[in-house]
Amino acid sequence: MMIRVRDLALRLPSGGRTLTILDGVTLDVEAAEVCAVTGPSGSGKSTLLGLVAGLDRPSAGTIEVAGVELTRLGEDALARFRRDTLGFVFQAFHLIPTLTAAENVAVPLELAAVADAPARARALLDEVGLADRAHHYPVQLSGGEQQRVAIARALALRPRVLLADEPTGNLDSATGGGIIALLLGLNRERGSTLLLVTHDEALAGRADRVLRLRDGRLLDGHS
Ligand SMILES: Nc1ncnc2c1ncn2[C@@H]1O[C@H](COP(=O)(O)OP(=O)(O)O)[C@@H](O)[C@H]1O
Ligand SMILES: [Mg+2]
Repeated sequence: MMIRVRDLALRLPSGGRTLTILDGVTLDVEAAEVCAVTGPSGSGKSTLLGLVAGLDRPSAGTIEVAGVELTRLGEDALARFRRDTLGFVFQAFHLIPTLTAAENVAVPLELAAVADAPARARALLDEVGLADRAHHYPVQLSGGEQQRVAIARALALRPRVLLADEPTGNLDSATGGGIIALLLGLNRERGSTLLLVTHDEALAGRADRVLRLRDGRLLDGHS
């Protein structure tokens, strides 16, 4: 099992009360599986992804990713784990505006001291269909193109698990459909595991499995 979550809870203090953000979430994602999490705004989707990414600590429960129990890791080990195992794609792309597309993709390669980062970055851009945009800055790219650059960057270190939070949320539906097709295609080719958060049921329906969150709890009967 690539992702194994048991009885996950996140509770936060709020003005003398306790807010329950996630409550008793249990889920498994197999290696190479594409799993979509849907649910209305505020249902806890981003929080769940952040916990699986080791960006937040749960109040209760366990999270195992690629055989590593995240709640047992210290901050340094967590940071190394994230770098070595996970890729992230966000709704807002998060590209560095002063760097070209190729330079953005090269950032994780250079941080990891990978040999020949510029050539690897160009090959990654080719893989997402943007070979001819390598020297463009984010502002010169459409939303869909920016998300392709962000996907190339997320995949640069060949993560076993890709986490995507509303990756089509800022895109029109045709462009969003293209981004989902790209993510699914890359996932198949690379055999990586994809946990995808979306409130778009049509996009979620293209995943192997759909989990539904409501008010911090997973609904039963997911298929
Ligand atoms: N750090 C925080 N402090 C207080 N409330 C939070 C915090 N993070 C998230 N929430 C609340 O938790 C709920 C779930 O948020 P979120 O995971 O962002 O939902 P979604 O991604 O499904 O829209 C929301 O009600 C949100 O306001
Ligand atoms: Mg969210």
